[in-house]
Amino acid sequence: MNILLTGGAGFIATHTCVELISAGHDVVIVDNYVNSQPEAVRRVEELTGRTIPHYEADVCDRAAMDRIFSEHAIDAVIHFAGLKAVGESVAQPLRYYRNNLDSALTLCETMAAHGVKRLVFSSSATVYGVPDEVPLREDMFCKGCTNPYGWTKYMIEKILMGVAQADPSWSVVLLRYFNPVGAHESGRIGENPNGLPNNLMPFITKVAAGQLPHLNVFGDDYNTHDGTGVRDYIHVVDLARGHVDACAYAAGHSGCEIINLGTGVGYSVLDMVQAFERVNGVKVPYVIGPRRPGDVDACFADPAKAKRLLGWEAKKTLEDMCRDAWRWQCMNPNGYTT
Ligand code: WQD
Repeated sequence: MNILLTGGAGFIATHTCVELISAGHDVVIVDNYVNSQPEAVRRVEELTGRTIPHYEADVCDRAAMDRIFSEHAIDAVIHFAGLKAVGESVAQPLRYYRNNLDSALTLCETMAAHGVKRLVFSSSATVYGVPDEVPLREDMFCKGCTNPYGWTKYMIEKILMGVAQADPSWSVVLLRYFNPVGAHESGRIGENPNGLPNNLMPFITKVAAGQLPHLNVFGDDYNTHDGTGVRDYIHVVDLARGHVDACAYAAGHSGCEIINLGTGVGYSVLDMVQAFERVNGVKVPYVIGPRRPGDVDACFADPAKAKRLLGWEAKKTLEDMCRDAWRWQCMNPNGYTT
């Protein structure tokens, strides 16, 4: 299939491009580079040996999107594009609602106009809000999100459910990611946060590299085995493979399915620090600080539905995640900024 990846220069999308091409698909990329760099696309071309059609455009720009669909016979779309920093969304809610909702609506309208009705959407476990119980299953009631970023993901899920319900010729898969970490084993593509990292693993790698003095552990009084937050960390390559399987599934089904992409195993912040130090032979100094507003005690997936519907399960280990994240950091101390 010929698959359009919106936000295609991003962390998860670049890894998905590599896996899609490896599985025999063709890809087209559109990205406005607000949170990514063209160098990432060049690296994907280097890794795959393919020239990848790519457009610098905003998914909110209908004319630009019409041009892409007119110039390429698109069979399916994976919608990655969106602003995704939780803290930033609390400070800039209108920017997040406008950007993330407008881009999703413009994409769907463009797809419908061009008769393209297979869509995989990059959703997030954050839509579960503060869970009453773990592991999290797709049929659990989502009580409410803790930040505007999460609400945009939740609202886009509802929009896409409505689209599929109104027109059964649509095939929509909503992938709820847990915590993506790691990098391609080549060390040529990886997580490239703008400025100070928001997420745990890129913070750990920059502390280990001496770029930051220490890790601030956001609270050690949670209801977990060691008091620090527990999350379901999933290797980005496993996550990418899940998108390949979701595209195959979308090609053969109609309607809308919600699917968790997680390992089903939770690790605490200190588990991650200790594993990273052990695997890489480095030190990660840390300081226990106050809780971060909006954080939950524990969040990890029940991955059974992905196995049942997609035949997918995570295969990479915590050691793989730590080793590959460190290799990316060491080979690219300034990310894609050469
Ligand atoms: C993980 C754990 C923190 C940084 C978010 C989004 C989710 C997805 C992944 C986009 C928590 C602790 C972190 C630090 C710390 N993003 N931590 N010190 O909050 O689980 O999920 O990112 O799709 O949608 O909600 O990920 O990596 O920020 O935090 O102690 O400097 O690490 O408290 O327990 P989170 P995270």
